[in-house]
Amino acid sequence: MTQYWDCKAKHIPGCPPQDLEREQNMTAAASLLRRGGLVAFPTETVYGLGADARSTDAVERIFAAKGRPADNPLIVHIAELDELGAFVQPPSPLALRLMQAFWPGPLTMVLSVRPGVLSPRVTAGLDTVGVRMPDHPLALQLIRAAGCPVAGPSANRSGRPSPTSAAHVLEDLDGRIDGVLDGGPTGIGVESTVVELVTGEDGAELVRILRPGGVTREQLQHWVDHVEVDGEGDKSSPSDPTFTPRSPGLKYTHYAPEGSLTVIQGEPERMLSWIRAKTTAVQDSGLRTGWLTFDDHVRQAAADVVVSCGDRKQPEEMARRLYAALRQMDEQQVQVIYAEACPENGIGAAVLNRILKASGGRFVQI
Ligand code: TXA
Ligand code: MG
Repeated sequence: MTQYWDCKAKHIPGCPPQDLEREQNMTAAASLLRRGGLVAFPTETVYGLGADARSTDAVERIFAAKGRPADNPLIVHIAELDELGAFVQPPSPLALRLMQAFWPGPLTMVLSVRPGVLSPRVTAGLDTVGVRMPDHPLALQLIRAAGCPVAGPSANRSGRPSPTSAAHVLEDLDGRIDGVLDGGPTGIGVESTVVELVTGEDGAELVRILRPGGVTREQLQHWVDHVEVDGEGDKSSPSDPTFTPRSPGLKYTHYAPEGSLTVIQGEPERMLSWIRAKTTAVQDSGLRTGWLTFDDHVRQAAADVVVSCGDRKQPEEMARRLYAALRQMDEQQVQVIYAEACPENGIGAAVLNRILKASGGRFVQI
């Protein structure tokens, strides 16, 4: 059975019973983690599925619950910088500067692992480990109370959109995990940015983005001169199925809704008439259609199910709404989905990356 702890209540000054209840929930959740259990918890990005990263039994249960391929390593979550030294090699000065700038926050740093502390299943045989310090009070409280590094992939079944609410976690994992802490909807809505530091041809360290996410390229560029994106400038690109990403998890069709999804990019009017024509043809063949669009096009959409990700000029809003929108398509049993590409500025780059992933390479430039 999956235990459910409601931790949504905000702290109300002078109202200790809520604090007490939250404290009790946290103690119960942390003790489950310490005993090798699986506890889903909110972070500022998406919900994570936590387990003691030192315990192979616990970590194996994550892979089983999610149906996750064994070669896809897990991110380790910490609550304090000084926990890091126990399981990674000393980070470079640039790595330390980035941690100080962005932690707690949605940046995962790929660092050299110190052997013998984490379960080898966490790193999937690599000599590196992805680490981050989430910016969410419940996540930090849980990690501190558990007193161990917490392995935490997104708390969805593999291949499903990541969960941005406790209800999404239960939709996918009820009965497969031991508990979920409900902290309400997550703030950012897409996962953390995964980066590695590499030495460039001039001998200087540069940042390579392996997965775009909550920390934008523009933000990273404030701290480091050279930021490159994995695959950028290669002949093949992330919208090309032959592209082989450096981050193991990115080679799988992730975030996939059950219907087939096609991404369309182009001049708005041409794009709208293309989607309209396709939608009509697909409906005529008896299939249920969906449009993943933005507020400005909602009234023009002719599909059976129309879901807006909000204002296309507000990438933060799109990010917050994307995964719930994809899940809504599944709930409404949509078979063919047309998704409009979004502008790529700021966190829009992460949103576009996820929509392209969801499409499994079906991309049309009009
Ligand atoms: O925001 C997030 O990052 C969320 C929350 C829960 O923290 N977690 C998350 O974990 O998205 P997950 O497992 O769903 O995605 C982790 C990604 C995968 O693509 C994985 O392949 C990559 O990070 N990754 C993990 N360790 C790595 C490593 N050592 N080298 C390269 N990529 C790594
Ligand atoms: Mg995931």
